[in-house]
Amino acid sequence: MSEASPTVPVPAHTLHICVTCRPKGASPEAVRDGRLLYEAVAALHADWPGRDLVALNGVECMSGCDRACTVALSGAGKPSYLFCDKAPTPETAAAALDLAAQYAASDTGVLMRGDRPGPFRSGILAKIPPGL
Ligand code: FES
Repeated sequence: MSEASPTVPVPAHTLHICVTCRPKGASPEAVRDGRLLYEAVAALHADWPGRDLVALNGVECMSGCDRACTVALSGAGKPSYLFCDKAPTPETAAAALDLAAQYAASDTGVLMRGDRPGPFRSGILAKIPPGL
């Protein structure tokens, strides 16, 4: 006889941040800008009311290395986005969660430029349609 394991809800959306991004010419020994951005977002995400809807995922490279820092969003049935040229600042970190909240709240996942938080109104490298 097996006991039922408690079910842990899995967020339906993911905010991906590349932890290995660094600007061109940065010292290889320096803490990577991507790591700094990820840690700033993680600190906010820990107490963020939307954390049940959006998981945070630190990843090593999203093939936008020449356009550091890179941030992406994905969710089932929604387009995926890859943003680039993001500075590892507290403003960007807060805006990333604001953007993720918009994405999670949208039925279509479409993020119109004028509605996005300031740091995310530019720098889209890719908008990939949802799978069929
Ligand atoms: S190192 Fe960040 S996208 Fe490649």
